[in-house]
Amino acid sequence: DEVYRGGITGRRPVVPTAFPALERRARRVMSRRAHAYVAGGAGSEETVRANRAAFERHRIVPRMLRGVGERDTSVEIFGHRHEHPLLLAPIGACDLVHRRADLAVAEGAAHAGVTMIVSNQAGHPSEEIAPRATAGWWSQLYWSTSDDLVDSFLARAEAAGAGAVVVTLDTTTLGWRPRDLDLGHLPFARGLGIAQYTSDPVFARLTQETADRASDAKRSGAGPSTRRPSPTPTPAAVRTLLEISRHHPGAFLDNLRSPLPRAAVETFLRVYSRPTLSWDDIATLRSRTRLPVVLKGVLHPDDARRALDHGVDGVLVSNHGGRQVDGGVAALDALPGVAEAVDGRAPVLLDSGIRSGSDVARALALGATAVCLGRPWVYGLALAGAAGVSQVIRDVLAELDLTLALAGARTVADLELAPFATAEPAV
Ligand code: FNR
Repeated sequence: DEVYRGGITGRRPVVPTAFPALERRARRVMSRRAHAYVAGGAGSEETVRANRAAFERHRIVPRMLRGVGERDTSVEIFGHRHEHPLLLAPIGACDLVHRRADLAVAEGAAHAGVTMIVSNQAGHPSEEIAPRATAGWWSQLYWSTSDDLVDSFLARAEAAGAGAVVVTLDTTTLGWRPRDLDLGHLPFARGLGIAQYTSDPVFARLTQETADRASDAKRSGAGPSTRRPSPTPTPAAVRTLLEISRHHPGAFLDNLRSPLPRAAVETFLRVYSRPTLSWDDIATLRSRTRLPVVLKGVLHPDDARRALDHGVDGVLVSNHGGRQVDGGVAALDALPGVAEAVDGRAPVLLDSGIRSGSDVARALALGATAVCLGRPWVYGLALAGAAGVSQVIRDVLAELDLTLALAGARTVADLELAPFATAEPAV
């Protein structure tokens, strides 16, 4: 209604309505590095494209004359009623895109009435984001190599009022991302997206230990000079950075030239993600937090079953927007199998490829309880801060509502998809 009325009075939206125009416009205001980081995917970006192609293989069959006036797409998740079946996917390093970063995202999400999943690599500490996210927020966790840090993040999420914790499984190490490699760019090494860490008391202790070790080594003359990498055991993250510099000379030092003390950057790279993460770790999680636990990155029905066997409360079907495994399965293609395995015992969320309300309708019809919106809101943020985020969300929700109305569906359960997925995507 609001969109139509705006059209009648000639009021223009603050950001373009359709995704391709939104991205094009945002690209103009973003730095090359920021756009490459947000838009890019792993390898040849085949999985980024597959995520979209999967949506285009499913068609809604509109049903007529069903007398659909009011629609209801609200859902209950973990005892909390969400007015809309949509949350914001956690996206790190938003400080690369907008000065107010996650503060603006929280305000935009709250204005649109949706829950925000705050990234572990947010540009602000969650304690500052939480009061602005008045429609709710969940906390996303990358499982650190430091158990103490994991416990600290969990305790902080609980204390600040998170509705759930989302553990991201698919990023035990960063994917191979040619666009970032070519620009020699790793935002975290520049001190972006590490506010959750630098505001953490356990992280402060670990950083102090790194600094102490470096100065001891320097004093004894046995250690490396300050211009060389630290003598701490080489974690996968540092290996990735070294790998980058092997192919792209200069990138390592360039990335270490950041406003943060070098000890903090090195500590971050050492602790941010645990390459050996296994089901044994998940088994400990239930006793470590009273928050509902969602596993993000589940793509196989057996992993979904196992998650529930481990006391997990929900799964998020996702391939990280095609940023991790190039050639990996499209998230939407993985959804029906996961939904069948879960069989209504827990919420099943989906992200990776949602660009419109029609996409949301198709994901819900294929078994998702709700979806998470990713890159589109980042472009809204880049263009118009909180107002841009809010409008991007509200456009998607408005189109979802219209899609249901025009398809003759009062709720998602009434939606009908064509009995076959078309063999080829439309584009
Ligand atoms: C992400 N994603 C992500 N996921 C996560 O669990 N923690 C994070 O910090 C980030 N950071 C991040 C940064 C950027 C720039 C992107 C694009 C993505 C993944 C994100 O939550 C989600 O899975 C994808 O964005 C979904 O794909 P689409 O819909 O954006 O293509």
